[in-house]
Amino acid sequence: METMRSFERYHLLLNGHVVRTPLALSAMAGIVDADYALARASHIGVAFLGGFSIDGPTMEASRIMERSGRREFLYDDPEEELCRQASLVNGSGIVCGLNLRGATPESFANVASQIGDQVIYEIDAHCRQAPMVEARSGEYLLSHSDLLAEEIRALKREDVTVSVKIRAGVSPDDRRLAKKIWTAGADIIHVDLMDYDYQKIRQIRNSCPLVLIANNSMNTFDRVRDMFSHGADLVSLARNADLRTLAGLDAAIERHTDEHGWYNAPKQLCRGGDVRALTFCCMPVKDCPLLPTLDRLGLSREEYLELKQRAVAGTPLEPGAQTCFGSLAWCCKDSSPCMFREMTLSQCGLSRQEYMRQKKQLADKIVQHLFSRHAEPHTN
Ligand SMILES: Cc1cc2nc3c(=O)[nH]c(=O)nc-3n(C[C@H](O)[C@H](O)[C@H](O)COP(=O)(O)O)c2cc1C
Ligand code: SF4
Ligand code: SF4
Repeated sequence: METMRSFERYHLLLNGHVVRTPLALSAMAGIVDADYALARASHIGVAFLGGFSIDGPTMEASRIMERSGRREFLYDDPEEELCRQASLVNGSGIVCGLNLRGATPESFANVASQIGDQVIYEIDAHCRQAPMVEARSGEYLLSHSDLLAEEIRALKREDVTVSVKIRAGVSPDDRRLAKKIWTAGADIIHVDLMDYDYQKIRQIRNSCPLVLIANNSMNTFDRVRDMFSHGADLVSLARNADLRTLAGLDAAIERHTDEHGWYNAPKQLCRGGDVRALTFCCMPVKDCPLLPTLDRLGLSREEYLELKQRAVAGTPLEPGAQTCFGSLAWCCKDSSPCMFREMTLSQCGLSRQEYMRQKKQLADKIVQHLFSRHAEPHTN
């Protein structure tokens, strides 16, 4: 029942499981294990446990880091311990991910073949500690993206869900990196924004159709909302993942979603929205950011018209004779007040929340179309 409600609210599935809230725990080596996640189970949807070092070179790096005062998880038999950790979380309602440091594609494939598809495998391309980088792991992968792509492919051959945790601004071009992670087969991109803001999330959202997790200082609902309205599907917390912060965010996200129907609805395009915002755009008839955006996406006006018309055919967004362009397909976001849209919605018996959920479905179809053609990234 609870699971059903969560699905109706967020429509978020990861690794085949319903995500109860778009809040994740981000890995902290030596700290985030199953017990730590279970203590926060009521206010998180996903937990990335770890980071765990999974082969000789990375375990040696962990030992060096531990000797220099960092907390690390170190075990004689990492696979056995990872299995134990995953089974502790199993059945808790948390979708479990393992944040892993490995030096070769084979190391990742080996772990996945032993643990199976019950967890998400997150490649740690984030750790910047020198011993880990020297072990060809962590941040090393951001400047050696061919190796990163090999590791993704090795995991995908094991038929498991793959996340890649990156640090923004390290690669010379995060858009290219995101595309490479996507085309190598990953399912999720988890971005530590460092000093960047939501513009970086928009840039990555416009470059790939992966599930996108925004990380770094997601401690207030205002910041979380900025991430959601520029393309994030989830946000994650590490240092401030205390119960009070998580409970406050969980409640605020739930309230916002119940009021607006679509928890991560984009801003309108002319207000800086990401590519999903085309769902709220009207017909291309005026001088506004729509036309240059269509140009950048390589979509002609006719294709854009046809795409939206086809996508709403037979759905509650098709009618709308009293609206500006004769169909709700071209209507604005719920936050832009409009008498004509409201009138149409009430005639169709459509609540504002349902209207926004329908707009989400339209956005999904638009995104699917754009990325099925490997559209070039947006320039902002
Ligand atoms: C003590 C500590 C250990 C961390 N260990 C890892 C790790 O093993 N793997 C990883 O991907 N990120 C690791 N991180 C990074 C966090 O997951 C997160 O990206 C970063 O702290 C920013 O998010 P926050 O502002 O919510 O803390 C660690 C961070 C801290 C503070
Ligand atoms: S079509 Fe409308 S919503 Fe889209 S950018 Fe132009 S003015 Fe804004
Ligand atoms: S009818 Fe209202 S909501 Fe629809 S396009 Fe016109 S102004 Fe926007």
